[in-house]
Amino acid sequence: MKRWFTLFLGIAIAIAVPLAAAQKGDAAAGKAVYQKKCATCHELSGAPKAAIAKMLKVEMRDLSSKEVQAKSDDELARIITQGTGKMVPVKGLSDAELQNLIAYLRSLQKP
Ligand code: HEC
Repeated sequence: MKRWFTLFLGIAIAIAVPLAAAQKGDAAAGKAVYQKKCATCHELSGAPKAAIAKMLKVEMRDLSSKEVQAKSDDELARIITQGTGKMVPVKGLSDAELQNLIAYLRSLQKP
């Protein structure tokens, strides 16, 4: 009996571990990173901060907009880590933080 139980446990772990690893970022954790790293220029809702747009003389899109949400996760990651147009790259993010940020950006999408 004990052998079967051990075997069963082994199989359960072998299935559960890759599943957990494959899971996408955590939007709640991403929000905390966003507040620290993005909220100086982008509102929590994704709307541009008017003062920043004015200062940089650029039309900033709402991050919840169709145009931004149409980008792939990879594109969003590239924008965040390498910058785009007048947005400077955001440094010092771990891979996990980046995944969580993207999950947060996706959560802004209007239904
Ligand atoms: C110092 C100000 C600043 C910070 C900090 C900042 N951004 Fe930006 N972001 C901008 C500006 C300005 C633009 C518009 C760039 C352009 O179009 O020239 C932009 C554009 C973007 C875009 C592209 C929108 C589009 O029109 O395609 C995304 C996505 C984005 N930001 C996400 C983020 C995220 C996520 C963070 C935090 C990790 C962040 N930004 C931090 C200023 C900032």
